[in-house]
Amino acid sequence: SYEQEIKAFQPADAAELEAYRIKFLGTKGIVKQIFGEMKNVPVEQKKEAGQVLNAFKQLAESQYEAFKHLTENSQKKGPSIDETLPGTKLPMGTRHPLRVVENEIVSIFEKLGFSVATGPEIEDDWHNFTSLNMPEHHPARDMQDTFYVAQNPDWVLRTHTSSVQARIMEQGNLPVRVICPGRVYRNETISARAHCFFHQCEGLYIDKNVSFADLKQTLYYFVTEMFGPDTKVRFRPSYFPFTEPSAEMDISCTVCGGKGCNLCKHTGWVEILGCGMVHPNMLRNFGIDPEVYTGFAFGMGVERITQVKYQVNDLRLYSQNDVRFLRQFQSS
Ligand code: PHE
Repeated sequence: SYEQEIKAFQPADAAELEAYRIKFLGTKGIVKQIFGEMKNVPVEQKKEAGQVLNAFKQLAESQYEAFKHLTENSQKKGPSIDETLPGTKLPMGTRHPLRVVENEIVSIFEKLGFSVATGPEIEDDWHNFTSLNMPEHHPARDMQDTFYVAQNPDWVLRTHTSSVQARIMEQGNLPVRVICPGRVYRNETISARAHCFFHQCEGLYIDKNVSFADLKQTLYYFVTEMFGPDTKVRFRPSYFPFTEPSAEMDISCTVCGGKGCNLCKHTGWVEILGCGMVHPNMLRNFGIDPEVYTGFAFGMGVERITQVKYQVNDLRLYSQNDVRFLRQFQSS
């Protein structure tokens, strides 16, 4: 019967579907023909016959609808997209300048055999201060305006990455040679020259017979890799509780070459880091015998190094995320 034919209908393409439409639903199609026969049906059967016919018509139509997508597809065929057009370029993100410089610092020290170590940004008093030869009431604590964590008076936002130095010494695997990059926090009013957070890279080397000459040579190598072979260094005596002797290191001004500019405040020198020989008290705090082992440590600000390298003269630029600033580091 037609009903079975319709139910079994499975068109393979639009042409078969069109043939079906003409056969059943066209103006001279079977549905129209059967409806034409209605006039011959006796009045008392008209209602029943009408229902049967309508059901048949609906079946024929619904089957057509079910395969209608075949005709739509065939209409979409043709050159609607030009596959030879070049693609749309998506905008490329850039690395943050601080990350660029941090990566560079780390990779220079990796060449010297240092490996990377990190630690928590919320620190306890022991790792941030006390173990670093800064017991309670030590005046040097005032050098670093500390953020305390409200939940626990023993917790601080670390004020320097020297806390990672402490954690590495605590592990007690000697000799050790690590570089520790990370974010640090100080309670300072935000301005062009100060921010409440910034980034440091700490270095630590402990072994038998490590001397101040090793410290100087290591940092000199770093400077020539970072700023070029003509850069000069000088060390000035300084004070840090966890190193003795301590020094600050300057490099010859990379902007004016010593002629005088804003970066070096017309002195020809730019301070870039603090350093020194690890204090015997700190070694003892971690059960390391200062008669057997010696070591050096240094810490530099990544913002500072970036400022020298790229002449970024306002610390706030690093965290404002202004794309006009960030895009200047596109090629890095
Ligand atoms: N922790 C010091 C600071 O934040 C830097 C430093 C690190 C100095 C290691 C000496 C040795 O200023």
